[in-house]
Amino acid sequence: MIAVEQDNGASREEHRPVMSARVIEGLAVRPGGIYVDATYGRGGHARAILSSLSSGRLIVADRDPTAVAHAAGALGSDPRCTVWRARLSELPSRLEDAGLAGRIDGLLADLGVSSPQLDDPERGFGFRRDGPLDMRMDQSAGESAADLLQRLPARELAGVLRRYGEERSARRIAEAVVAAREAGEPVRTTGELAALVEGVLGRPEPGKHPATRTFQALRIAVNDELGELDAFLDRVVGLLAPGGRLAVISFHSLEDRRVKRAIRNASRVGDLPPSVPVAPDRLRPRLKQLGRGERPTEREVAENPRARSAVFRLAERLP
Ligand SMILES: C[S@@+](CC[C@H](N)C(=O)[O-])C[C@H]1O[C@@H](n2cnc3c(N)ncnc32)[C@H](O)[C@@H]1O
Repeated sequence: MIAVEQDNGASREEHRPVMSARVIEGLAVRPGGIYVDATYGRGGHARAILSSLSSGRLIVADRDPTAVAHAAGALGSDPRCTVWRARLSELPSRLEDAGLAGRIDGLLADLGVSSPQLDDPERGFGFRRDGPLDMRMDQSAGESAADLLQRLPARELAGVLRRYGEERSARRIAEAVVAAREAGEPVRTTGELAALVEGVLGRPEPGKHPATRTFQALRIAVNDELGELDAFLDRVVGLLAPGGRLAVISFHSLEDRRVKRAIRNASRVGDLPPSVPVAPDRLRPRLKQLGRGERPTEREVAENPRARSAVFRLAERLP
């Protein structure tokens, strides 16, 4: 069963960075190094990185314009900082264009959604308070969750719920969504979707709203979160300087599996048969995995419930 994120009741503008001390230790921040926080959120990790930088440089990015506006306000006047609005999938090209390929000393991606995104009913990520069923991290582009529910045939919708939410009742939920749509009452709000799922599943689940898996699945689909992560992981190793560190925090097994596989693949010697001509580089491991997937302490989870499903992975670029 994949772990899922849930609302945690934190206030709108707060986001407590997850495993922050471990992230900073793992990145081994050098005062003069070049660092990238690919998922700024509200800047908890970025501030921690900055506190160890003197002459160094920090680039922060996020796809969410509200996060970028926050970063511009908080860091825009700091000469060490550069703020970009960029998706994970775009970041490798942006860094290459800036002449930083092979020069990054530490790169952090803290995946998923931030507390301000989850807690703002207007963003449509959570089901505790009713709001438009949007779920786009960047509300200026793409299709909202409500539009997706309006467009997808039941079979495809069930596939989304099964694949990204591991929802066992995917087919019944998808059929109920389509039935509502055909009755002229399409699901348009978070409250309507939560009530529909609750009605279909008809049973309370201890400690978890029955719509949690459905919300997670739609969020992943709306933001193409796995496609974004794959595109980033495909090119991230080439961005790192020798000895540079890659740190990733994921929140469910669909993400963590990808991160683990990307690190493992880059840590292996190519296993092509000797008859296949390949450049010598391809036969050299490019990353060294540092430790295994780590989880937050019980104490951190008690203090910050959003950390509950976090897995932290770390790797170092080999020369
Ligand atoms: C868990 S929060 C990061 C919190 C941050 N580390 C902090 O301490 O405040 C995740 C952030 O990543 C952003 N994000 C998620 N997927 C992204 C993607 N594909 N490209 C760029 N930003 C993304 C979200 O908009 C959100 O702001």
